[in-house]
Amino acid sequence: MTTTPLLSAAGLHVAFPGRRGRPTARAVDGVDLDIGAGEIVALVGESGCGKTTLARSLLGLVPPTSGRVTFGGQPLDYASRALKRYRKRVQLVLQDPSGSLNPRHTVYDAVAEGLRIHGYAGDERAAVAEALSRAGLRPPERFFLRYPHELSGGQRQRVVIAGALALEPELIVADEPVASLDASVRGEILALLLRLRDELGLSALVVTHDLGLAWNIADRVAVMYLGRIVEAGPVEEVLTAPRHPYTQALLSVLPESGNAPVVLTGEPPDPSRIPTGCRFHARCQILSSGEAARAGVADLCRTRDLPVLGSAGAGVACHWAGASG
Ligand SMILES: Nc1ncnc2c1ncn2[C@@H]1O[C@H](COP(=O)(O)OP(=O)(O)O)[C@@H](O)[C@H]1O
Ligand code: SF4
Ligand SMILES: [Mg+2]
Repeated sequence: MTTTPLLSAAGLHVAFPGRRGRPTARAVDGVDLDIGAGEIVALVGESGCGKTTLARSLLGLVPPTSGRVTFGGQPLDYASRALKRYRKRVQLVLQDPSGSLNPRHTVYDAVAEGLRIHGYAGDERAAVAEALSRAGLRPPERFFLRYPHELSGGQRQRVVIAGALALEPELIVADEPVASLDASVRGEILALLLRLRDELGLSALVVTHDLGLAWNIADRVAVMYLGRIVEAGPVEEVLTAPRHPYTQALLSVLPESGNAPVVLTGEPPDPSRIPTGCRFHARCQILSSGEAARAGVADLCRTRDLPVLGSAGAGVACHWAGASG
């Protein structure tokens, strides 16, 4: 990427103190990631791999243990006033069932809340109407006095998105934005995010455990495993010709893959016990099937850690894929 990325993480680590005498949990363990202006990046990986922690640290909600986050080339300033200004430009969109809407607040108040927090000096009513309209709730006035329980799941998610849009952010971070919605409504919300990118030039980081969703929406995809990005690239490349065995396994379980599903064996990942060597080796189907040994990399798989993938946007962290590709 030749221009400065809008949002960038470099060498980012986030560690949490171990619970009940356990070792430190390295939830984000060396991540470089860029999001360009007008770009939609999908961050995918199983539950527990560190997606939410990475997203929260990009928003300045969790300070990194080391490494840094820059926005428009400037390092984040963690002083509270600076962070407040930053969070106007970069908005978090959570899925509604996680409680982002207060059941006692009307739609109007839900959307106006951010404007009030940030001391918006313009015409509040017009800004709320505009945001609802952009989020596809039209005519907006019809929704002003409704309460969340009077809306469908898709409409509630649109209200959450409208609340973010009201502040005219440059980037939104959407953490599992459609995880609890029906398939048909899911498609509508994804289409909305794409339209916002096209109409407003809005950038987005969409966090999801669903690779199929990434396929429908993203320009670029980053696959995360145990605190690291293990494969990244343009969505057509990564999803049509995945190179990392973990990406291959995730894709193999999609109904449209047409391949036999790869069942991942071994312990689910635990960031307080990151294995030596390749962090995926205990579960890797290429290693367990002998393919890595045939390629002469099995010892490396067990003993040599892989370098952090650069933020340039493409690559794979695997001894075997590196050797074979
Ligand atoms: N505040 C915290 N304290 C300790 N451990 C945490 C905390 N938040 C997350 N973790 C751990 O960090 C790992 C990554 O969690 P998370 O970022 O929520 O993953 P994901 O969003 O991919 O499911 C998990 O093992 C989780 O238990
Ligand atoms: S480095 Fe080895 S163990 Fe790790 S994903 Fe690649 S083949 Fe599997
Ligand atoms: Mg999460």
